[in-house]
Amino acid sequence: MTGRHTSRRLLAASTIFSLTWAQKPYQPGYPNYDPTGELEPPTSSPSPMLFVQIEPRHSIYDSSEQYGEFIVDASLSYIHGQPWNNMTPSDVGGSATSPVGVLEFDIRLEDSELYYLPARNNGSTVKIDNLYGGLVVANNVTNYNFVDILPFGFYTSCGGYLNYSFANDSASKDYGFNAINPVCSFLDDDVFYWMDQLNLWCQHDMRGVFNTGLNTTQLIEAIPPVKDRSTLLSWYTAQEPEAWQYALNFTSIAYNILKQMDPYYPTALVLNCDNYYFGEYSVGADYIMEDAYPVGINATYSKWGTACNDTYGDCGCDDCIGELQDVGNRLDAFFDYQLWPDDTQKPLWAVLQACSGAGYWARDPTPEKTWAMVILSFNHGAKGFMSWTFPASETPESAHGAMSKVATTSPVADSLIGAKPVRVTVPGHELLDVAYRSLSGTVMVVGVANLDYADSSAAMPIPIPMGLGGISSQSWGSVDWQVANSTLSVVGLTGLNTSVVILCA
Ligand SMILES: *[C@@H]1O[C@H](CO)[C@@H](O)[C@H](O)[C@H]1NC(C)=O
Ligand SMILES: *[C@@H]1O[C@H](CO)[C@@H](O)[C@H](O)[C@H]1NC(C)=O
Ligand SMILES: *[C@@H]1O[C@H](CO)[C@@H](O)[C@H](O)[C@H]1NC(C)=O
Ligand SMILES: *[C@@H]1O[C@H](CO)[C@@H](O)[C@H](O)[C@H]1NC(C)=O
Ligand SMILES: *[C@@H]1O[C@H](CO)[C@@H](O)[C@H](O)[C@H]1NC(C)=O
Ligand SMILES: *[C@@H]1O[C@H](CO)[C@@H](O)[C@H](O)[C@H]1NC(C)=O
Ligand SMILES: *[C@@H]1O[C@H](CO)[C@@H](O)[C@H](O)[C@H]1NC(C)=O
Ligand SMILES: *[C@@H]1O[C@H](CO)[C@@H](O)[C@H](O)[C@H]1NC(C)=O
Ligand SMILES: *[C@@H]1O[C@H](CO)[C@@H](O)[C@H](O)[C@H]1NC(C)=O
Ligand SMILES: *[C@@H]1O[C@H](CO)[C@@H](O)[C@H](O)[C@H]1NC(C)=O
Repeated sequence: MTGRHTSRRLLAASTIFSLTWAQKPYQPGYPNYDPTGELEPPTSSPSPMLFVQIEPRHSIYDSSEQYGEFIVDASLSYIHGQPWNNMTPSDVGGSATSPVGVLEFDIRLEDSELYYLPARNNGSTVKIDNLYGGLVVANNVTNYNFVDILPFGFYTSCGGYLNYSFANDSASKDYGFNAINPVCSFLDDDVFYWMDQLNLWCQHDMRGVFNTGLNTTQLIEAIPPVKDRSTLLSWYTAQEPEAWQYALNFTSIAYNILKQMDPYYPTALVLNCDNYYFGEYSVGADYIMEDAYPVGINATYSKWGTACNDTYGDCGCDDCIGELQDVGNRLDAFFDYQLWPDDTQKPLWAVLQACSGAGYWARDPTPEKTWAMVILSFNHGAKGFMSWTFPASETPESAHGAMSKVATTSPVADSLIGAKPVRVTVPGHELLDVAYRSLSGTVMVVGVANLDYADSSAAMPIPIPMGLGGISSQSWGSVDWQVANSTLSVVGLTGLNTSVVILCA
């Protein structure tokens, strides 16, 4: 995960707005050069350190709420914190808890801000839950009470589709999606009105505003017509700003204006590169999206007639191997890039490939690949989905729809929003991607994605550290799981099989 490509442009974006592109180092004849801007892992301390972080539980509290919470997190780290001399490395297992004792430490109050705002009686309010990374929303449909939401939907074309009819807007709802990102080139009142009617949440895409670069006057003018809508979920300021080589201060300037003019919403953007000025661009977002599209690419040789390697070429997916695990790897990389400087973890979302073409992607993902990418994303911590792009062909749409209905409803949604995934490796089956989430200690939700294309007849024992009573249900899939001796197991699994299974103590 250390390489960088000189060009990371994703052509999907250019099908909507054709920007001029000064440098084309991905084409033959252009020089190979080191683009710089790469984050390196910090050197780790030889002994563990005590790392204490304190931050507000929610990004926003409002006057309808009497109580707030702070998260106090004490952990042992080899990167951050203060020496903790009594500990030895062997004490610092994966499940190390706070050591008992008294120790003085510098309180690191996160630079995440705490807003205490007047409660609204129109529009919406959207918080980030800093403990688990989910969004919490209030609007007229929730009677202005705060409820958790796991956003799941598509970037959706506006002109000629969403703006065509109410029925086209409600199609997203019918599939089971609860949020979309309308890709509009101008503000369309009908679309906004219909989305409010449907309670279809809107990641408000401002790419039209930034079509010609950051014009702060234009941004300031773009906020008032939208900020009182009842389904506004977030401000989306940048579509692959690093791939387009926007100024490094672009996202933070936009962010500060938005926070000043309208602190009721998070700001979001998608980063296309694996490791290119991550800190500079991501500072302008409250949640960060990744859009690695690995299906049907040639990861080593591009349509431009050049090789793709760490510093050269553009194969449609930066630093990818052209396998589904690229999606999990990218989420892990973004987690690490946040961990290394100061471990301020902003939520990560996945933009999944639901498209083909542009000379990069030979085919659409099949339903099985789509489901594997969704479970994989959840296992690697994704807190929302906004796939590219709707209307898609029927296959990726209905594959997303089927998964959305499960992922956005209880109990799966509760576990995705209200618990952290703990990944489990299954020796001998490294392509089995597994994570469990514990809900209130008595319910365990396990997500399994078999990234192997081949069927296997082997036994796959998945260790789960809990006194397991049994299987309560299988919310997704139809694997013949058995439970015994703190192990969830199956003998034989088809290639790309996926399952979400609920266990009880
Ligand atoms: C929403 O409420 C705010 C203040 O509570 C008010 O300033 C604004 O005009 C209202 N907007 C609409 C569209 O009613
Ligand atoms: C929808 O958008 C398209 C493309 O921008 C435009 O040509 C069309 O007139 C719009 N339709 C309506 C009903 O507004
Ligand atoms: C959706 O929009 C397209 C135009 O892009 C139109 O042909 C189609 O009939 C619409 N579908 C519905 C259900 O309104
Ligand atoms: C919520 O308010 C919007 C306008 O902002 C309106 O279109 C919608 O019908 C309202 N929903 C409910 C359930 O009252
Ligand atoms: C910025 O936007 C404003 C308002 O739309 C416009 O009047 C101005 O000409 C723009 N400035 C530049 C440099 O494009
Ligand atoms: C943002 O960066 C650009 C390009 O480096 C620079 O010209 C501009 O002055 C910077 N703006 C601010 C407000 O720092
Ligand atoms: C990528 O393209 C190169 C050159 O055409 C070819 O040799 C290679 O087999 C391709 N790889 C894949 C995975 O398609
Ligand atoms: C990548 O490929 C280019 C063009 O073939 C070459 O000049 C460069 O040395 C390669 N970079 C790496 C890191 O292998
Ligand atoms: C997953 O495996 C089970 C058997 O354990 C099988 O019944 C089911 O059809 C498989 N599902 C897929 C999508 O391959
Ligand atoms: C239960 O699991 C443990 C650890 O994996 C193993 O040592 C033990 O033999 C197992 N017991 C049975 C009855 O399978």
